[in-house]
Amino acid sequence: MSQTMCDRDGVFSWEAHWIEPKQEDVREEPPIDLQEMFAGKIPASLPPEERLLPPKLLRRDFHIGGKPSRAILRMSARGLYKATINGSEVTDAQLTPDYTSYGSFLEWQTFDVTDCLHAGANTWGIVLADGWWAGRISITGESCQFGKRLAAFGQLDVTFSDGSTQTVFTDGEFVSSSGKYVYSDIFIGEKQDLRLDARGWDSPGFDASAWESCRPFSSVTPELAPQQGPLVRRMERLSAKDWWREGDSIVVDFGQVIAGRLRLACHLSRGQEMTICHSEVLDATGKFFCNIAGRNKDQVDVFIGRGEDEVLEPDFTFHGFRYVRISGWTGAFDPSCATAVVVRADLHETGRIVTSNERVNQLLSNIEWSQRGNMVTVPTDCPQRERAGWTCDTQVFAPTATFFMDVREFLGRWLRNVRADQLADGEIVDYSPAPKGIRAGLDSFGTLSSAGWGDAIVIVPWVLFQRYGDIRVLEENYDAMRRWHEYSVASAAGDKSGDDRYVWDTKFHYGDWMFPSYMMGCDAPGPVATSLATKDLVATAYLAHQSDLLALVARVLDDEGYASECEEYAACVRRAFSARFVTDDGTLTSEFQGCYVLSLAFGLVPWEMRQGFADHLAHMIEGNGDLLDVGFLSIGYLLDVLLDWGHGDLAERVFFQTQCPSWLYEVDRGATSIWESWAGIQPDGTVGNYSFNHCAFGCVGDWIVRRVAGLSTRTPGFAEFEVAPRPLSQLDGMDLTYESVGGTIRLVWQGTPDAGNMSLTVPEGLKAHVLLPGSDEEIVCGGGSYGFDW
Ligand code: BGC
Repeated sequence: MSQTMCDRDGVFSWEAHWIEPKQEDVREEPPIDLQEMFAGKIPASLPPEERLLPPKLLRRDFHIGGKPSRAILRMSARGLYKATINGSEVTDAQLTPDYTSYGSFLEWQTFDVTDCLHAGANTWGIVLADGWWAGRISITGESCQFGKRLAAFGQLDVTFSDGSTQTVFTDGEFVSSSGKYVYSDIFIGEKQDLRLDARGWDSPGFDASAWESCRPFSSVTPELAPQQGPLVRRMERLSAKDWWREGDSIVVDFGQVIAGRLRLACHLSRGQEMTICHSEVLDATGKFFCNIAGRNKDQVDVFIGRGEDEVLEPDFTFHGFRYVRISGWTGAFDPSCATAVVVRADLHETGRIVTSNERVNQLLSNIEWSQRGNMVTVPTDCPQRERAGWTCDTQVFAPTATFFMDVREFLGRWLRNVRADQLADGEIVDYSPAPKGIRAGLDSFGTLSSAGWGDAIVIVPWVLFQRYGDIRVLEENYDAMRRWHEYSVASAAGDKSGDDRYVWDTKFHYGDWMFPSYMMGCDAPGPVATSLATKDLVATAYLAHQSDLLALVARVLDDEGYASECEEYAACVRRAFSARFVTDDGTLTSEFQGCYVLSLAFGLVPWEMRQGFADHLAHMIEGNGDLLDVGFLSIGYLLDVLLDWGHGDLAERVFFQTQCPSWLYEVDRGATSIWESWAGIQPDGTVGNYSFNHCAFGCVGDWIVRRVAGLSTRTPGFAEFEVAPRPLSQLDGMDLTYESVGGTIRLVWQGTPDAGNMSLTVPEGLKAHVLLPGSDEEIVCGGGSYGFDW
């Protein structure tokens, strides 16, 4: 294969072959029924040692004539790789290549390795592990989702000071063997037997005569593409907050739910086996508790000693945890030997917000930590059980995500996956990357897509455009948006006639997923109950919303004709919505808070009915003890709707609520991240088998920024933005900094609705529209620093 390519490091020509080490096929896990799994029927598995194969070491010696002036290594793999030159790792990046829709495209990474090479003998080392390619992934823990065999692809382009060049690439000169890794799975965990460490294997002079040749092969699929967006790295490092003994084991608490790994400095005697289990919560009695159920969700690392001091850390896996349980430790324990290493995409943090209310600050911290934990390589639902790029979770959280971090390229890359996985009929698959097992899993629901989930293809680019002002994200995704819209229209219509064609009741949808009352108190409680109760109304609501947004996108892209078509279609959906879901007494056929929230947020019912709807919604919430009862698809609009329709006091009461379900209930229960279910820990202390690191309900972060701190964009990229501080009865101070694409905005205010002051910094070139409490006057300011009183 010789093809001229380019990446950030220049133009080059691929000479490399794919190579695979001598290996057995990765074992396929038998299929598992999702519905049965939900019902707790998880088939027994053999121990990992009997099912998983050891990661492979690959090496090649090569000679270069002099010290290079520049050397660039480009690498990718089917599986995960670690590359070394002369024994030194070429990068601090982890879990390369990033998880993409491998069936369609696979990224290569580029490293400057000039300093690793020397004149004369050199060695290139590669370790390959199952990763997402062949490992056990997604909710059902299936293996071999993209392939059964691991392979490496790489090229080293060396330039000397006289302009001459030398290229070394993956070819049949590579030999392979195995070393200290007994197995490594991205979900199950990693086992290292340090006695088997082949010391010096990736340096010149190592005797590899017993190693076996690698087999070169050519393949044009998946397409290779340069890395887009940030690499995964070791980011924050947390020390132990507490520790105790449970029987023969030691439990360490790092005080924060994260995605990452334990790094442990210790002495292991020869043959001593140490096992490390990971968990996000303790049980009701304060003991270590594995909160994640399912097949291949072990999250366990094992190390066997060789009689030396060690710094232990797995290489090809990560875990969702706050607590670790260490078994096999001998002697005294000093917690300073243990560090929790956060592993995640190296995203620049752009937003910082501190309020006068400590509980709200903890909530904001929880939201940001859930973003960290769910932005490892693709945006995910949770970092322990599924790690899947569920489209809904991302669309709901995207506005908040863009405040805390610069996610332009990260979400841009994810959208490329979403487009790659789009089906021929325009369907946007529920999660992306979409491994082949998604079909088996989702088919049990009879669908591969859902309203509010697939709409991510419209909503996420729109949010990115609003926040970063770069029209390219709309251009890149426009075709996919239109195809999804056409699919949605056809799916809703089915073989119906009349206005019923605009009601999307033809298939399964997740609806207002996870709204609390049906998670606990109906005949057959649980997430599926929440969808069945709301799906037709909620899907139709999102059909209108999708059409409205697409009309906006079309207009930005100067496609006036399509914009009008979408608007006309949205009008038909609104008409059909009222005919189908509004009863003669002016209420909805589905008496759920979320249904009223969406009717108002998306303007689905005639104007003259809306105040009545808002009052009815307020009445429902008050009747529920000021407790919210909304799910994934409506929660992001709840507090806005209450504020906009004259129920600001109630919005405040819901926001500051501390009974379950509420944001501050979780805070009072000691949460350090956002939970999947409000009742993850029930009021009686019972701990559920939920994820304790799920971003979706953290979308309230965006509301705090926009409607409490008061910062929102009016034109794409914050070129013109609004500042409208809203002191609350329990929150009288705010300090917010946001690095917008046009510069850093800072606003600091304190006070009550009646009296207060604010300082504001507006970057040069941007314009702020200031609306102070109690005043209708709009003050317009250009770049500079300002002080205001009210
Ligand atoms: C995930 C969710 C996701 C949902 C879809 C769950 O198992 O964790 O966050 O959106 O499935 O139904």
